Amino acid sequence: MSLIRIEDIAHVRFAAPDLAQMRAFLEDFGLVSSDVDGRLYARGTDGRPFVHVTEKGSPAFLALGLRARNIADLETLAAVEGVEVEDLGAPGGGKVVRLLDPDGFLVEVVAGQAQLEAAAPPPEPPRNSVSRHERLRKLVRLTAGPAHVHRIGHCVLNVSDFRKSEAWYKARFGFLTSDEIEAAPDVTLGAFMRCDRGDRPADHHTLFLAQLPQTPCFLHAAFEVANFDDLLLGHQYLKARKRTAAWGVGRHIMGSQIFDYWKDPWGHELEHWTDGDLLTADDPPNKMTMQDLLAVQWGTPNPMFEGKVAPSPGLVAFVAALNLRIRRLFRRNLKVKSA
Ligand SMILES: [Fe+2]
Repeated sequence: MSLIRIEDIAHVRFAAPDLAQMRAFLEDFGLVSSDVDGRLYARGTDGRPFVHVTEKGSPAFLALGLRARNIADLETLAAVEGVEVEDLGAPGGGKVVRLLDPDGFLVEVVAGQAQLEAAAPPPEPPRNSVSRHERLRKLVRLTAGPAHVHRIGHCVLNVSDFRKSEAWYKARFGFLTSDEIEAAPDVTLGAFMRCDRGDRPADHHTLFLAQLPQTPCFLHAAFEVANFDDLLLGHQYLKARKRTAAWGVGRHIMGSQIFDYWKDPWGHELEHWTDGDLLTADDPPNKMTMQDLLAVQWGTPNPMFEGKVAPSPGLVAFVAALNLRIRRLFRRNLKVKSA
């Protein structure tokens, strides 16, 4: 039983040396941003006051925002953690509890934010397929431009000890595992975790914690766009604007979403996605392999495999498993010595 059950991800917070440059990128990416008290707050069309924040400073990932159901849940969390419920002090108002996770990532749990009126997404066009002819005597005429980002959906963090971080996030926020990833049998690399909303559907993953052989860091945050056409129009637009592509377009296995990853001017990765899996609390967890994580159902191969002499996914999984086994062995030995 967790302390509270969070509703969703709320935002990601960054520092960047040039807010105007970040604003231009975010507009190309399909977010609407405004400068408030020297910070850049960007939002989608879902009516949430912001989903991406930038403050001035050296380039860095500063915080992951999670949305609690209500302020009473923040008070429960704050009482157990021995911290204060503070004013959020951002567009939309609301309250926040600030915690540090086991790797020192700042987690901002928010509630009570005012909602703006949601903007209507581009209409879902009727489509023709062999089995269904929905579009009769209507032509497809799309308008070029940035994608229409509706909302933030998930964040991926690289952690130093997956089991420790998993326990920390699950005990506080009620995350459920959708897919656990193994680099080799019984060598867990991480897990895709979703919000426990009972019978109400939740995204396949809101948080993915990975223990890759690198220091703890932000890996990416993802934003839902209107539909497949919108994602491809967004890709074309970002390419025309000479933004840096990271991976895509393709369809993932875990989560099933159609994805398209781009880098902001300081190398932080943001994903456009559409058509992801929605699960309820009744859906059981699965175990999947690292090959499944890196493979695509269709589309651009993972950049790791694009080289002419690309290592096989099996070799990558073997090396990652070996690395994890060695690090866990050393950690166990250190614990025995210090006991
Ligand atoms: Fe993602």
